[in-house]
Amino acid sequence: MPSIELAGRAYFYEDRGEGVPLLLFHGFPFSSESWWPQLEAPFRGTRILAPDHRGFGKSAPGPMSIEAMAADGLALLDALKIERAIFGGCSMGGYVTIAAARLNPGRVAGLLLVDTQSTADDEAKKQSREEVAQQVEREGTAKLVESMLPGLVQPPARARVEAIMRAQAPQTVAAASRAMALRTDGKDLLSRYAGPCLIVVGEDDAMIPLAKSQVMHDLVSGSTLEVIPGAKHLPNLDAPQAFNDAVERWVARS
Ligand code: MLT
Repeated sequence: MPSIELAGRAYFYEDRGEGVPLLLFHGFPFSSESWWPQLEAPFRGTRILAPDHRGFGKSAPGPMSIEAMAADGLALLDALKIERAIFGGCSMGGYVTIAAARLNPGRVAGLLLVDTQSTADDEAKKQSREEVAQQVEREGTAKLVESMLPGLVQPPARARVEAIMRAQAPQTVAAASRAMALRTDGKDLLSRYAGPCLIVVGEDDAMIPLAKSQVMHDLVSGSTLEVIPGAKHLPNLDAPQAFNDAVERWVARS
């Protein structure tokens, strides 16, 4: 797995396939490995660049915010001399995608928003993120993993997702929980955005349900909404074929 150095920190990323660059951000609390079917067989016509956010996977930790994770992704494009890319991500990775588009709209060749939302957290959600952060700092990630896992994926992908989650450092997980609570609402950005946009959601996602994707679909004129049957929060793992087909169809016509 290649890496670059960002302000003295190692930042690791997967680089697979050939074609339009696609910067693909993972969700919480995973690593780039959570894209494993797509890394094994990249979407036709794309070069997938899937980093481990700071502190996750193999990447070294650093001060955590959604904007900082987005800036790291943009720095990766700089390092690889890539001017424009499709920005995409799942769930927290979608928050990072929207933040990256805000930081540098001129570099966005398209948006791929997977089981994510444009709406910021309300006070109750912010409070529960703080409670998660404190619990993880006190006791590690075991309870968080147990509580999230059934809602994330169908049974076949569960063991590998669980292993990915358990491998993440508690300090990073706590910091990312707080970072999500502080994220900026993305509705203004999406309503101004006029380029290609694919929104994908698992039909059975109870964590960030279809209604949140519908909001984004309504905001981005000309966007495509694909609902993946039988999939939960990580449709790229529950139904990789349907997920990949949806992305490939969109890339081919964008
Ligand atoms: C994720 O999968 O990245 C998280 O569930 C996102 C969130 O908690 O908002």
